Amino acid sequence: MARLNTQVGIVGAGPAGLLLAHLLHLNGIDSVVIENRSREHVIDRVRAGVLEQGTVDLLVAMGVGDGALRRGLRHEGLYISFKGRRHRIDMAELTGGKAITVYGQNEVVKDLIDARAATGRRLYFEAAHVSVDGLDASQPIIRFEHDGTDHELGCDFIAGCDGFHGICRPSIPDGALTVYERIYPFGWLGLLVEAAPSSDELVYTHHERGFALFSMRSPAVTRLYFQVPPDEPIQHWSDAAIWDELLARMTTSDGWKPNIGRIVQKSVTPMRSFVATPMRHARLFLAGDAAHIVPPTGAKGLNLAASDVLVLARALKAFYEHRREEWLDEYSDVCLRRVWKAQRFSWWMTSTLHHSPDGSAFDHQRQIADLDYLTSSRAAMTSLAEQYVGLPADVSLDSVGL
Ligand code: FAD
Ligand code: DHB
Repeated sequence: MARLNTQVGIVGAGPAGLLLAHLLHLNGIDSVVIENRSREHVIDRVRAGVLEQGTVDLLVAMGVGDGALRRGLRHEGLYISFKGRRHRIDMAELTGGKAITVYGQNEVVKDLIDARAATGRRLYFEAAHVSVDGLDASQPIIRFEHDGTDHELGCDFIAGCDGFHGICRPSIPDGALTVYERIYPFGWLGLLVEAAPSSDELVYTHHERGFALFSMRSPAVTRLYFQVPPDEPIQHWSDAAIWDELLARMTTSDGWKPNIGRIVQKSVTPMRSFVATPMRHARLFLAGDAAHIVPPTGAKGLNLAASDVLVLARALKAFYEHRREEWLDEYSDVCLRRVWKAQRFSWWMTSTLHHSPDGSAFDHQRQIADLDYLTSSRAAMTSLAEQYVGLPADVSLDSVGL
């Protein structure tokens, strides 16, 4: 049995865990990151792509933003398409110059793993049987097996950054959490395609056959998503059927459509809204998808993980530097204000743009009116733009020493 100690034990090496580890390092606070999957698996997982302005600013201030600045694609606008027409929303003009950056989550994770390795601080991949214990004690413990040896890690605090299916949230005693949840009657089939993007900016399409989304990863790689039933078996979709469906939904009356190419990756994701409150139990703090999930239509999940850990890093810094506990006590409330606004936005984008299988003809007309108003009112476009580029964080970069 190996016995270890650290200040903050972090479960999960996704964006939340790795960002927190590096923010703590920059403030001289030690942590150990414990991840149950392999390094290759974590880096190859294709997921989010849209970074809010504030997330990019955070990466840059932390000294890990070179990749996002150099290889990321800065987008100052996006398109909303319905009834066969694309309508551009000029986000930068409406928000005083703010934009989003398209940069794959796997690239962000790779940059953060490299940064972690350069610090010499500990990060375990392929940890088995990870569990947390003694959350109410002064030294909670993370147990795991690595390379055939049992490990026991004593910590001052545990950060549960292990995503929606992790072990931290279920380790909180029954009755201590209140859960808010909505499950949607559809999912997304996501594709990575070897084809040059046919638009410089994202296109969110409302269509009676269902929602579709055009995005990208690089000047040579297109990323596409389209609405399918939530439990759709991927083998129902041959490549030819996928292209027929995408072109039927996405082609606009001016002839715009995505370029066709070799499909190199495809997967189905179900969609849900989920919040567990409070985001803290005794010495365990939940951050990112471990505490909340948004449907991906608003592109908010990774960005919320970043804002959670900013709030947590501020609180831990104040604790270690001044033994101040009030920011630890406020952690959940401060995060949840931003989380609920992102929940509302993600729900609204989802319900306005998707075809609901149990929706009525009235619902369809209401959606069209919503989209017509959105794309013709400067006030409505400004509202979408300021939420899409990211509402301001409640915590400044100064407060985490950046
Ligand atoms: P995760 O990325 O899930 O990381 C959790 C980590 O914990 C993982 O590495 C996991 O292997 C590890 N783990 C799990 N269990 C254990 C255990 N028992 N022990 C140790 N480790 C464990 N968000 C956006 O902001 N913009 C987008 O454009 C966007 N698009 C998306 C598109 C799709 C198709 C999907 C699925 C998601 C999208 N998201 C988007 C959401 C985004 O990917 C997530 O919100 C983000 O990954 C959350 O980061 P996290 O670190 O909290 O959790
Ligand atoms: C991407 C994902 C999203 O969920 C979204 O809303 C926009 C873009 C993407 O993966 O590129």
